[in-house]
Amino acid sequence: MKVRGRDVDPAGDHGLSIGRVLGRQLPGALQDVGQDARIGRPDVQDHEDGGGQLSREGLDEAPEGFDPTRGRADHDDVAPEDVLPSGAWNLSGLCARDDRLSVILWAPPMIAPLPFPERSVDNSWWREGVLYQVYVRSFADSNGDGVGDLAGLTARLDHLDWLGVEGIWLSPTMPSPNADWGYDVADYLNVDPELGTLADLDRLIAEAGRRGIRVLLDLVPNHTSDRHAWFLEARAAREAARRDWYVWADPGAGGGPPNDWPSVFDGPAWTFDTATGQYYLHQFLAEQPDLNWWNDEVRNAFDQILRFWFDRGIAGFRIDVAHSIVKDPELRTLDTHPGVHDVMRRWRRLADSADPQRILLGETHVRAVEAMAAFYGTGEDELHLAFNFPFVYADFDARLAAVVAETEALLPKTAWPVWTGSNHDAGRFPTRWCDGDEARTRLALMAILTLRGTPVLYYGDEIGMTEVELTPEQLRDPVGLRRWPDHAGRDPMRTPMQWSSREGAGFTDAGAVPWLPLGDHRACNVGDQHRDPASILSFTRELIALRRRLADLRSGAYEQLDAPPGTWAWRRGDSVVVALNLSEEEALVQGVEGMIAASTSPERRGEELSGALTLDAWAGAVVENASPWRSANRSKSRRSNNAIVTP
Ligand code: NOJ
Repeated sequence: MKVRGRDVDPAGDHGLSIGRVLGRQLPGALQDVGQDARIGRPDVQDHEDGGGQLSREGLDEAPEGFDPTRGRADHDDVAPEDVLPSGAWNLSGLCARDDRLSVILWAPPMIAPLPFPERSVDNSWWREGVLYQVYVRSFADSNGDGVGDLAGLTARLDHLDWLGVEGIWLSPTMPSPNADWGYDVADYLNVDPELGTLADLDRLIAEAGRRGIRVLLDLVPNHTSDRHAWFLEARAAREAARRDWYVWADPGAGGGPPNDWPSVFDGPAWTFDTATGQYYLHQFLAEQPDLNWWNDEVRNAFDQILRFWFDRGIAGFRIDVAHSIVKDPELRTLDTHPGVHDVMRRWRRLADSADPQRILLGETHVRAVEAMAAFYGTGEDELHLAFNFPFVYADFDARLAAVVAETEALLPKTAWPVWTGSNHDAGRFPTRWCDGDEARTRLALMAILTLRGTPVLYYGDEIGMTEVELTPEQLRDPVGLRRWPDHAGRDPMRTPMQWSSREGAGFTDAGAVPWLPLGDHRACNVGDQHRDPASILSFTRELIALRRRLADLRSGAYEQLDAPPGTWAWRRGDSVVVALNLSEEEALVQGVEGMIAASTSPERRGEELSGALTLDAWAGAVVENASPWRSANRSKSRRSNNAIVTP
């Protein structure tokens, strides 16, 4: 039997310390018992692919009666969920034998059947791998203050490794007064003390790197906090050296704002500065003054910021408000000033000249696919990846295919699409698209993870986490605070990650008050779904594994296929077909041959198809070894009964 590549005789007590078995130092309690921690039962499963999961909170959550300083437990056996909420390895028991602590490990059977292919090692990771957004404040709290932090995230990396994620984007980590929860940055070269320290971030980058996971930071170049030293200086006097780093304008006719621009967060986009007699621009809150990107010093300052973080080992940035950092100098209303593309090209040169090359993922919040496509430049000289908001906001029905077709048609040849359904502003797709329905959630995951492009999952998508209803007293987001009761703002989609059914959800300590309320973690959590081979989590992982296994699924061309109304089918490369039934009626998709490699109904995996695929309402399948097929635009003459006809 092998345990993480080492031969282990399962028949007894081997004297292998867990630290050695897992190939890393043990933090916390088990380190105290050090060499006395042993594999103590012959039921350790053969399991080579999973990540070890002796996380710090797992150890901190050692059961009552276990005294780490004495290195013994008064229990003979402890349920795994009492000790470790998730992970490829579960600790199923701590046993005190004589004076020695024995540790019993088991791997749930769901992990064994699928060999998990290797992650990519070259520069294709951001195209072929899956990215994952971590809203740090809500992911994992290491110190019981109710706020997620970098150390908590580091302790949960094994989950992301196990899931098969290749890169994580961290929502803002820089010091901030939190008027807009991190999107009001007061210092671009540091870490917010509530989230940790620079050393914690270094450790996160190193630990993630050891698992082959890259870390992207959130860069906020459109505006700073009004408490940033630059703005304090700028507003001190009209003659201030940094006055022109921000967008100032004299009052308009009648002494009002210079124009009628509204703030995205309601009210005018201008605030009058009494001391200096001018208005300053803020597309968002008054606490978020916009920078003036026509000023070369601002551009140079951001070059330094990019380099600073590249040197610390981050793999790139998600760029906040990428579409509108440059304002029209005459204050005319434009969705996007073309000058923004110069800045994108400048950053692309910086990212490309770093070794290894870094990537830029833009929040291109524009309504038209064409405008989004422009942010790829030639395909190789602006953003590597641009978020597709027309896709995010499309209804989840067969018309989604139209957005995908438009994207495929309009992106430059060498550009690479991005598919996402959830984020910290737009909401969670299991709620927005799927109304909490599990079948639809699986279908949405199947689409996001099998289209041509980079999927970006939002924390909790992998377990189908839904938005949480909050009372007005529980709101923290400035948007909800301003718009309640018409709009609850963005807190419902930012609630803590649901790791386990325990008090605190494995997010924070039992008894601690999380910064936002927990959702229904007893009904939906990582730990329970990890143990269930038929869960949404197992399904998500299976799809990610399939991407790794099938080259066509990673990089094959997309071609939409003829399919009956209410369904959407496409081919990837020569050998893979994906078919989704986005309707309430059973559907028959004809012309499909091959083997079902993944299905929204797990029991259909392995089914051979010889010419027809029946799909229940809201069901879908990925078919491998698929026969050559006529595409939607080549097979018109051969259609009959709205079905696909084999060529
Ligand atoms: C977009 C971010 O995603 C959002 O959360 C933030 O409020 C605004 N930009 C302002 O930075």
